[in-house]
Amino acid sequence: MAAKEIGIGLIGMGTVGTGVVKILRERGDTIAARTGLRPVLRQVAVRNLGQMREVALPPEMMTADPQAVIARPDVDIVVELMGGYEPARTLVLKAIESGKHVVTANKAIIALYGQEIFAAAREKGVLVYFEASVGGAIPILAALRESFVANEIRAIFGIVNGTTNYILTRMTEDGMDFGEALAEAVRGGYAEADPTLDLEGIDAAHKLAILASCAFGIPVDMEDVYVEGISEVCPQDISYAREFGYVIKLLAIAKEAGGSIELRVHPTMLSRHHPLASVRETYNAIYVEGDAIGKAMFLGRGAGRMPTASAVVSDIVEAILRSREADFQAERSLYWNRKTIQPMSEVACKFYLRFPIVDQPGVIGKIATVLGSHGISITSVRASLVEMTTNAGHVEMLTHRAGEAAVQQALQEINALPVMRDKSMYLRIEE
Ligand code: HSE
Repeated sequence: MAAKEIGIGLIGMGTVGTGVVKILRERGDTIAARTGLRPVLRQVAVRNLGQMREVALPPEMMTADPQAVIARPDVDIVVELMGGYEPARTLVLKAIESGKHVVTANKAIIALYGQEIFAAAREKGVLVYFEASVGGAIPILAALRESFVANEIRAIFGIVNGTTNYILTRMTEDGMDFGEALAEAVRGGYAEADPTLDLEGIDAAHKLAILASCAFGIPVDMEDVYVEGISEVCPQDISYAREFGYVIKLLAIAKEAGGSIELRVHPTMLSRHHPLASVRETYNAIYVEGDAIGKAMFLGRGAGRMPTASAVVSDIVEAILRSREADFQAERSLYWNRKTIQPMSEVACKFYLRFPIVDQPGVIGKIATVLGSHGISITSVRASLVEMTTNAGHVEMLTHRAGEAAVQQALQEINALPVMRDKSMYLRIEE
């Protein structure tokens, strides 16, 4: 019996869109044999019709009008791969309103407008799938929502941004400073044309918001995610970390803490024995702790044409299969939990602190006194000072677990001391 055709409308044919077209062409028979259903590309909307493309499609399949793709009666699933906030959000909502299932790789719209998009989908009785929005080829959202459904998830630690992981790898392994490593990432094609969202941790924060919704069943507003990027990490911090058994990684952390959820993205000193410590170059990895599974880690390509297209096609097939189940319901509620997000000021962890100081008698005492007055206890101190050179010294410290608010208050006071040459640097530590 011939497989039933399912009409696909594609919006956006950049890197990932081209991969999706290739897979649908080359794997159509395999998918039909496996599922009894054949996804068939009906039309593709692109910004620039005149652009040369790696995969040629008949001109009648191309349009510059995404609304026309959505409106086609023979399109069952709209696949949004244009990226960015608008018009992507409006087009996804339009597709839902038109009764189409949606597959998207767009982490920005799911992170920012997920609540609006899922509410519209439930209302209309359609599905929205977004596996490719986090971790490219890594099937982490399905794992969290389905495979690990029997678990209370305790924590997620993710390396979810390839650009920053590449830069930190070059700094760690080749002794480059941040600027040199960024230039190397640009040369190698590992950085976006404008890498600001990556470097500032915002791309990782979008992905963390999505991971946390899937793992903990809570809606996440982006303002509730604490974000710091990697641009202030220095070779000195990397070498200190190495000496004390740590590596520096940009981690996206979602952790259950006393009934609420910590959500934070920041460069982290991570024990070199942690499985994420060995994730190098542009690889992504997500480490999950659950009460039944214990510890699990997923590793894979977080970006790129075919890895991301693989996740998109998997979502297409999943949406087709689920929508045909006899007891099909629209998007199951993503937000089943009432837990709240913990304010960053209430988070506690161990810290690494670096103070660029003028070398004077009593300077370490002055810093330690301020820390002590805020209840911050030091576990290790190192002073790297050059004799009689007043303008080149650093004092580095590790602390016991300390509250974020106390540390920030103490650093503000220390930064105002006349012995400081520059503001202090801090990194949070995870074992
Ligand atoms: N800029 C992103 C990264 C692409 O570096 O991981 C994938 O979202």
